[in-house]
Amino acid sequence: MLSRVHEVLAPSNIALIKYWGKRDAALQIPANDSLSMTLATAFTCTRAAVAESPSLTSAHGALGSKAERHLAFLKAELGFDAPLAITTKNSFPAACGIASSASGLAALTIAAIAAWTGASSFDELAVAGFSRARLANLARRGSGSACRSLYGGYVQWHADTQDVSVTLPPDHWQLADIIVVLSDAPKAVSSTDAHAGAWASPLFAPRLAGLPERLAQVRGALVKRDLAALGDAIEIEALEMHAVMMSGQPAANYFTASTSRFLCWLREERRAGRLAAWFTIDAGPNVHLICEAADSEHISKAVELAFPEARLIRDHTGHGPTLRTLATEDVR
Ligand code: PMV
Repeated sequence: MLSRVHEVLAPSNIALIKYWGKRDAALQIPANDSLSMTLATAFTCTRAAVAESPSLTSAHGALGSKAERHLAFLKAELGFDAPLAITTKNSFPAACGIASSASGLAALTIAAIAAWTGASSFDELAVAGFSRARLANLARRGSGSACRSLYGGYVQWHADTQDVSVTLPPDHWQLADIIVVLSDAPKAVSSTDAHAGAWASPLFAPRLAGLPERLAQVRGALVKRDLAALGDAIEIEALEMHAVMMSGQPAANYFTASTSRFLCWLREERRAGRLAAWFTIDAGPNVHLICEAADSEHISKAVELAFPEARLIRDHTGHGPTLRTLATEDVR
């Protein structure tokens, strides 16, 4: 069967204010607003084409069962029934501290809908009834953080309306995210279970009460390009989220001894005036170092010297997903 292939590159994102805890797990309604920086070099490439029979080929465990479930959801929700041939792969290794579900579910949502509607650009998707806002809303159902990957720059997901908006465009401030991979061991507690566990933590209610102020600090620091103010806020934010994780039910301990050792080293280097980088950490042991793009080279070298066992992935502020149509292929 001759069919057009729709290719999406969707970036991952790193949350500066974390999405942690859900008000409604089935509908993926978060407990709080979150704000992330869209990345550039960490992305998922997904190709989709209408085919005679469905297939999903996921390179190095890019998506697995989450993808199957999300496709079934999209079909049921939108009423499309044409079988799709889908291939998906990540630009980054699995289990490295980059949320592959954010880029993967964003790419899958866009590519599948592009194939079903025949759209070869975001403009054509909008004409077919799929605005970026609607795509973000659908991607959210696959993985909450995926909704922020529909946009470039600094992106806020609003908990009350579920809207996703661009706080600042990527060219406002180019920051680097040096991902320091300290361990690629699988998680003992899945992030789905740990999200649910947040409500049992005595630290969760005070966290939610304080978040609007921290969000305002982060937004203000971004507007002013004030790295020290941004850094102070995102470190407290990551530490608070991990305190909630560790005191939840089930408790999730994502920090390892090497995570703690790295944070002590980083703070000492910073105090001594040797580097200007601040950390954030997602649901895993690996550290994201946020710094000015121009400092990324010398900070990476310092990390490599102090932690020769770590693997570094160097990323920066990105522009959001792309969609294009490749030449018609014979798809089975
Ligand atoms: O999208 P999920 O369900 O994998 O949750 C991701 C949560 C964090 O990555 C820890 C924070 C965030 O906002 O991305």
